[in-house]
Amino acid sequence: MSRTPTPDVTAGASLPAATDADVVAIPILGAPDTDSLDDLPGLDGAADGAIARARTSGEFRAKRHETLVVHLRNDAWRTSRVVLVGAPAAKAGTVDADSGDTGRLRDAAAVVGRLTRARHFSRVAFVCRGPGDRQELAQAAAEGLVLGGYCDTRYKTDADVMGHGRSGDSGDNPHACTVLQPDGTHTEAIGDAVRRGVALGDATNVARRLANEPSNILTPRVFEAVDGAGIHTEVLDEHAIANLGMGLFLGVAQGSREPPRLLVMRHDPPGAPPSPLLALIGKGVTFDSGGISIKPAGGMEWMKSDMAGGAAVIGAMRAIGQLGARHRVLGVVPMTENMPGGRAIRPGDILTGASGTTVEVINTDAEGRLILGDAIWYARQQGATHLVDVATLTGACVIALGHATSGLFGRPNAWSATVRSAAARAGEAIWPMPLYEEYREQLRSEMADLMNVGGRSAGACTAASFLETFTDGLPWAHLDIAGTAWHEKPRDEAAAGATGVMVRTLATLANDSGSWEA
Ligand code: BES
Ligand code: MN
Ligand code: ZN
Repeated sequence: MSRTPTPDVTAGASLPAATDADVVAIPILGAPDTDSLDDLPGLDGAADGAIARARTSGEFRAKRHETLVVHLRNDAWRTSRVVLVGAPAAKAGTVDADSGDTGRLRDAAAVVGRLTRARHFSRVAFVCRGPGDRQELAQAAAEGLVLGGYCDTRYKTDADVMGHGRSGDSGDNPHACTVLQPDGTHTEAIGDAVRRGVALGDATNVARRLANEPSNILTPRVFEAVDGAGIHTEVLDEHAIANLGMGLFLGVAQGSREPPRLLVMRHDPPGAPPSPLLALIGKGVTFDSGGISIKPAGGMEWMKSDMAGGAAVIGAMRAIGQLGARHRVLGVVPMTENMPGGRAIRPGDILTGASGTTVEVINTDAEGRLILGDAIWYARQQGATHLVDVATLTGACVIALGHATSGLFGRPNAWSATVRSAAARAGEAIWPMPLYEEYREQLRSEMADLMNVGGRSAGACTAASFLETFTDGLPWAHLDIAGTAWHEKPRDEAAAGATGVMVRTLATLANDSGSWEA
């Protein structure tokens, strides 16, 4: 698979002289039409008053994600045009409000990234305006520019990307972006923040690309090596998986012609002690047909992204290696198809996991929890001290939370809170869900230790309870991303399809280990 294209983002110095860009992007942060642009003296003069005219006439109201491209007449700004992008504070009570000032700057930068690609600008300078911590804002701007640059039309023979593409554009035509400070200051720390943002945005795009990949191309045997930057990758084949006794994982895999793989990635910084070891475990179902309990046809094509959790772990490991997390991190992704072949598991079958737990399969479409049960066991065998799994696990989570936020389950509360605060810093929405023992009772089987489904009620919670039985009391968090891994329609700030959700949260958790290593 081709390398993930990414725009080249660097930190730049001051305005206007240092820009030298095709376009200078300026987020407008006030309530619609209150931001005076006083901090950018001479800008409207260079535009011959066109900005003021567009605002007083109401042509440009600086509403959320609204853009206005203005050509500059004189060359004091060393750029021929500016783009203003509306980035007002989000309405209270929205998911966006929770991501705050850095969140709206990230989204505005992503809107600019998309516009830059659509209009074929090659050099964009983004003015990092806004209240708040300069480094956090610079990181968010860099993330947004990289995220907005995501584009993939490799499978189009006559592509017209957002109206301006060219045939076969895999995006391997990076545009250069600069993040500018409005007051011209440029520090080492801001440069580091921009590099962090680029790494996280790039890793998110890796995850998106993997999750968008069709299932005939991204089979379990094909994976993108998480190369370089200290990540060591090992792939266990079906024989190794069988030798480990991973009967739950193999049970799901046996209905497919494609053999399963267990992808194991290690970040082992030299000199790091064996503990703590953070394990990130991602569901890697490359296609979920439901198996014998087959799904209805409508929307089944989205099930090519049932490995979005695995993709998030792969992307996060890449960012963790690049950014040099201080502690050891283990990534585990069980990869398999869930297919209704002649050897497929049937409802009523009983499987035995590597931990010895027996499971009565009631519904073969509840496959994610089966493969994750064995993968969590594997992470424990490897000495994990802290666990986080990410999975497109249940339709019930979509019913509960919609597409606005991922669901968070975990034990103990302190560990869930740590994961939640990493998500908040990364600007990703997650919302706590309960893990009462009552849910586990819904999984009680007459025949085996557990059933793999617990009835219609509390479906996201019973799935989480199923996973909990494999964690053996370790601090563990489970992120159900069934509603957030995929956008059916394009958004102002993001292409349609895979979102790469939770890459930034996982990488932020691993990199800020000061909050949990003790
Ligand atoms: N991959 C699906 C969950 C899913 C549904 C993800 C919709 C994204 C969008 C999962 O394997 C599944 O099929 N879950 C079943 C469980 C049920 C059989 C208990 C579900 O949610 O219907
Ligand atoms: Mn399923
Ligand atoms: Zn699934």
